[in-house]
Amino acid sequence: MTSRVHLTTPLYYVNAEPHLGHTYTTVVVDTAARFHRSMGRDVFFLTGTDEHGDKIAQAAADKNCEPRAYADRVSALFRSTWDTCGISYDHFVRTTDDYHVRFVQEMLQKIHDAGDIYFGEYGGKYCYGCERFYADRELVNGKCPDHKTEPAFISEKNYFFRMSRYQQPLLDYLAANPETVSPVGYRNELMGLLREPLEDLCISRPKSRLTWGIELPFDREYVTYVWFDALVNYVSALAHAKGEGWEQYWDNAHHYVAKDILKPHAVFWPTMLMAAGLPVYRALHVHGYWNMGESKMSKSLGNVIRPLEMRERFGMDGFRYFLLREMAFGNDAAFTEDAFITRFNADLSNGIGNLVSRVLAMQQRYFEGAVQSVANTEQADADLEAAFAEAERRAIDAYENSQYHIALEEIWKAVAACDKYIVEMAPFRLWKQEEARPRVGTILHLLCDALRHLARLIAPAMPETSAKIASMLDADPGRLADRAPAWRTSFREGHVVKAPEPLFPRVEVPKS
Ligand code: MSP
Repeated sequence: MTSRVHLTTPLYYVNAEPHLGHTYTTVVVDTAARFHRSMGRDVFFLTGTDEHGDKIAQAAADKNCEPRAYADRVSALFRSTWDTCGISYDHFVRTTDDYHVRFVQEMLQKIHDAGDIYFGEYGGKYCYGCERFYADRELVNGKCPDHKTEPAFISEKNYFFRMSRYQQPLLDYLAANPETVSPVGYRNELMGLLREPLEDLCISRPKSRLTWGIELPFDREYVTYVWFDALVNYVSALAHAKGEGWEQYWDNAHHYVAKDILKPHAVFWPTMLMAAGLPVYRALHVHGYWNMGESKMSKSLGNVIRPLEMRERFGMDGFRYFLLREMAFGNDAAFTEDAFITRFNADLSNGIGNLVSRVLAMQQRYFEGAVQSVANTEQADADLEAAFAEAERRAIDAYENSQYHIALEEIWKAVAACDKYIVEMAPFRLWKQEEARPRVGTILHLLCDALRHLARLIAPAMPETSAKIASMLDADPGRLADRAPAWRTSFREGHVVKAPEPLFPRVEVPKS
């Protein structure tokens, strides 16, 4: 049976337009989705928008807009951005979708009936940016560690989810399934959070204060929003899109988020699932934050990176490569235009781009594009093959473990092995000796094999480039699940490859 995989991005708030941070997580999940598909697995890739709550209502009011109309506009912008960027999501969920609202209400009712939602009064410090209460010990100098703002004191009667009841079950679950949260630094952070007693979770707002949420099925004067609303999408949208049998995907659910929303995903969500009688997801993959050099990315600093602009300037794969290669998954990373251009020129223009054009140009010049038969082989040929076998083994392992920077690093070792092979074999020199020409044919044949392997290995991370290389070679690189196309025999003699087209034209560093 084909194994099934459910992959998710966070649902992005509609009070901001798509930027570098959203794009990173979305590109990561797209790469994971393409990787799993290439491994022959049946993937459900889910993304979407989070549209209820105070800050969305506020953002709409600031624009003199009804929340619904405002959310429609920004949600459509997220969707069209991902479409333009070639993100291969299978379903786009909005927390305002009817099926989602119904699912949340059913889940609330179920948990209420089971006695895990109660009505009570609570006063506490609330951060609107995070849409949650903070305990004093979580604040830094009295301020929210993420938003650096002082939380507001809120006291009112509300509905609470009895999260405290699930502290021990969650600890037991994590002890039995230590791989649930990764990388390990975030698991440790979570275990730290769970050393303190868990408080119950406030899940409602009185309609007198906020109407832009999902009405509680057991009290029409209250709404729920954000966490008890948005997290549920991971199941509601899956069940909606897949119908019967959705549980088979849920059994292998992988969530990808940044560290800012570790607690909701690692504490609120699994305890909510337990209360609803649903299995806990398989894995939570947590990554770090992109900063703009030394500072945070922010509209007021005017340093926000927009995906469509990057795509326009450098091509989507250039942007994808940088995001995936520069950030060690789990750690923070810095984005600067200089770092971007330096990597682009070194790894893409001079690296893979130059390799492809050199090989295809020689094939063109010496043999009018026709791949020659393999005559005699040398040790260096075997070494080149071995470098690829090693890169493939390590890259697949890294893709499998969300270590995208390592997958690319390993693949680029194979690019370097090709460069070294060309320098050492010096086909351009051999060509000058009539009797060495068959050997030139062999060298180029093997290099075409190498390009085909590269196209196959980079496909999850750089789908457009992979397709372009495949088209220039006029050959299908195959999936990762299949046996690699055999070296020396995969191109029949006389197969014609095309003339090279530039993949990554060098970018000049703007003079400041
Ligand atoms: N709506 C909630 C999530 C609900 S999930 C059921 C939310 N939305 S958000 O728009 O603020 O998105 C946060 C997510 O966007 C982060 O977890 C991360 O995936 C991505 N990023 C936003 N800014 C980022 C950086 N500067 N760096 C890396 N990723 C960040 O939270």
